[in-house]
Amino acid sequence: MIFVLETKSKKLKNNSFILKEFLDNAFNLKSHLMEFLSISECDLDGFLANAKTNLANSHPGDNLSDVADFYTEIVGDRHLADLAAWHITSKDYIADTLKLQQRFSRDLVLDFGGGIGTHALANAMSSRVEHVFFVDINETNRKFVEYRAKELGVEKKLTFCKTIKDTKISKFDTIVCLDVLEHLANPDSQIEIFNEIMDCNSIALFNWYFYKGDNNEYPFHIDDSQIVERFFKTLQSKFLEVFHPILITTRVYKKFK
Ligand SMILES: C[S@@+](CC[C@H](N)C(=O)[O-])C[C@H]1O[C@@H](n2cnc3c(N)ncnc32)[C@H](O)[C@@H]1O
Repeated sequence: MIFVLETKSKKLKNNSFILKEFLDNAFNLKSHLMEFLSISECDLDGFLANAKTNLANSHPGDNLSDVADFYTEIVGDRHLADLAAWHITSKDYIADTLKLQQRFSRDLVLDFGGGIGTHALANAMSSRVEHVFFVDINETNRKFVEYRAKELGVEKKLTFCKTIKDTKISKFDTIVCLDVLEHLANPDSQIEIFNEIMDCNSIALFNWYFYKGDNNEYPFHIDDSQIVERFFKTLQSKFLEVFHPILITTRVYKKFK
């Protein structure tokens, strides 16, 4: 059976093939990491095995005055390793989030806080998606995903930016913001911004985990009750949930008309 549909310079694949490629090798994630970081397979395995602890240990705790500094100044390539280890060990969960975005993604997509690029790359492979704007505050992440996009032959469908403003797009058809809101000082302001760059047919995929973990494994997550309450008030006043049948915590929203 032929799954790959070639058009001019784009490599478009059908949804089952994209999911299979993710489940098989996370879109060649390990070989991309070895090449990008110039490390051997053996060193990579050690890097991935210690990733979660290394990232948690690099957090300066209450001494951090600006939350964003952690992602721009401190994490370096430690976040790549943490995210890669998570996407490899929790591949069934990540595959479910890919299935969800396949149900909704179309046309102009914003992937905010795109990390190692799994969702942005999968969207770029989809024939329903015209272009993906990958926004991430971390320069190493942007460079890594740009490298991956070239390796996977989808670079023409992706643009890499540090901020939403840099995309110069006023309205997106799809917004993907997965496992990012708990990393922001003001998640309520962020979803207000998303609301402004959606129109009445746009769809947003959000999830959140406002919890530092049973043993402070996620010291960089926001868990302040007032911030969380403000977030839910904004969410409930500006967005309407759209039902989907996939049993995961990610929720789908449209704007309140
Ligand atoms: C836990 S990762 C999630 C990555 C990806 N969305 C996923 O589901 O695997 C959080 C990401 O948000 C990015 N990030 C944190 N603060 C940000 C900000 N203010 N603007 C854009 N990206 C940000 C980090 O650099 C990191 O890549």
